[in-house]
Amino acid sequence: MESVVNPAPGVEKILFTEEQVQARVAEVAAEISRKYEGRDLKLIGVLKGSVFFLTALARAISIPVKIDFLAISSFGAGSGSAHGMVRIEKDLDDPIQDQDVLLVEDIVDTGFTTRYLLQTLSGRGPRSLGICTLLDRSVRRVVQVPVDFRCFEIPDRFVVGYGLDYKQLYRNLGYIAVLNPDNKSPDNKTS
Ligand code: IMP
Ligand code: MG
Repeated sequence: MESVVNPAPGVEKILFTEEQVQARVAEVAAEISRKYEGRDLKLIGVLKGSVFFLTALARAISIPVKIDFLAISSFGAGSGSAHGMVRIEKDLDDPIQDQDVLLVEDIVDTGFTTRYLLQTLSGRGPRSLGICTLLDRSVRRVVQVPVDFRCFEIPDRFVVGYGLDYKQLYRNLGYIAVLNPDNKSPDNKTS
């Protein structure tokens, strides 16, 4: 039996419990370990949303991995990178040339962010470049990106938890949840 969770204030519905997330992360980590056996794998996390997923994934992967991070900002009206304009705010510490690189994302939504990162990173000569995402909301995809590993496909609702935020809150929830729409009003006071 899974443990009973009292949702945080503002949470409408839990989509995936902490136990479900952990179990799925372990499955995907096993797939990655098999695929990259004997290779020189580097996980690249996109700050801040993918940090929780990346650390859980890295611990569950059974082959040696290196990790590195970059930070981006996206602009334009609307949520995320609605107009596809993305900029690197903090670059990777190290080169990725001739390495097997797996870009680790919190969520692939429209696909603009991922496409930008793929274009940028592929220009640096990695041996291979894959995408691993915790969540895939493919129903909202605007530009096609090749997702190699995904933990969960989700419906067209705004979600928080396990790294995903609303106004920088909720990242530390162990589960993934739909936010109550009332909580998403501009004068929202999350607590
Ligand atoms: P995309 O460029 O539209 O694919 O957006 C990707 C980025 O938007 C993600 O890395 C998240 O930071 C953010 N994002 C998209 N949907 C959600 C959501 O439901 N909750 C929290 N952040 C989201
Ligand atoms: Mg975000």
